[in-house]
Amino acid sequence: MDEKKVMLSGIQPSGDLHLGNYLGAIKNWVERTEEFDNYYFMADMHTITVRQTPADLRRRTLEQLALYIACGLDPEKNTLFIQSHVPQHAELGWVLQCYTMFGELSRMTQFKDKSAKHQDNINAGLFAYPSLMAADILLYQPDFIPVGEDQKQHCELTRDIAQRFNHVYGDVFKIPEPYIPKTGARVMSLNAPDSKMSKSIPEGCIFMMEKPEDIQRKFKRAITDSDTENCVRFDPANKPGVANLMSIYSAITGKSYAEIESEFACCGYGKFKPAVGDAVVECLRPIREEATRILADKAYLENVYKTGAEKASYVANKTLRKVYKKIGFVAR
Ligand code: TYM
Repeated sequence: MDEKKVMLSGIQPSGDLHLGNYLGAIKNWVERTEEFDNYYFMADMHTITVRQTPADLRRRTLEQLALYIACGLDPEKNTLFIQSHVPQHAELGWVLQCYTMFGELSRMTQFKDKSAKHQDNINAGLFAYPSLMAADILLYQPDFIPVGEDQKQHCELTRDIAQRFNHVYGDVFKIPEPYIPKTGARVMSLNAPDSKMSKSIPEGCIFMMEKPEDIQRKFKRAITDSDTENCVRFDPANKPGVANLMSIYSAITGKSYAEIESEFACCGYGKFKPAVGDAVVECLRPIREEATRILADKAYLENVYKTGAEKASYVANKTLRKVYKKIGFVAR
């Protein structure tokens, strides 16, 4: 039998998981779980490029794991682990820093955004972050990296680093492809549709564990467009707020934009906004309930992340040993 192709991705537990993380990344992971050999992790090492409150980081890391499982990632079919439990990430991360150029890192959009936001803490980790992300990926020799649109640039840099390394030492790393969903790849903030949905604008962000009434309130207040048309029509350039709501609705219901336009043709925004809110509430309800149940079972979660780290470490170690040998480190 042919070996399954490999998928790998991660999310930083720097904030509570939100609808952008779900539609841009996790939903795609769950849909392909049978087809691939899967590695999904909590990228806790990445979070400390910005100051974190230790107790919150611990809580969010476990909550994130519970949500991964509640979304449908069966730990029997997916290797679920915490990044800092697999030391090969830090080890390969250092090696790859030496194969990443200063100019490349300076051009990263996420570095530019975060260094503008945290001017009092532009640390070396924030700058070198994409080399650690390249290590996260390349250790597992994946074929695909399912991410939202904003991570495409980091995935492309990963490919460049891998190609540079392979060019010198032969075929050590598989060159992976980013895998970006057709709808939901860039969910925008509900109250600022020109910014991406993120925890930093909480009023425009739908958190996965949020109460239904809060979700509905945010959708009812979502910014639609200032035109007088009051018509549900997909026109991202002129109607970014409505286009964002349509893309959320489409990603959740599987309906095309044409179908959504005809469904709401004579209703206007007043009916459309709560309908999107309902769809989101109903999509997240079973996930939230299941995550709450799983979170109460600490022993189960511990077993999942320990087993996951063991499996991940075994695979990661094979790649790391190969890299160390190629670059001339003496074998242990
Ligand atoms: P992070 O933690 O910012 O986001 C996690 C995933 O969610 C997607 N995403 C979105 N998708 C659509 N709309 C949005 N508004 C939105 N916000 C976030 C992101 O594209 C991502 O897929 N560096 C990564 C974490 C990481 C990683 C990795 C990912 C570390 N190592 C290795 C893949 C492979 C990050 O900061 O994503």
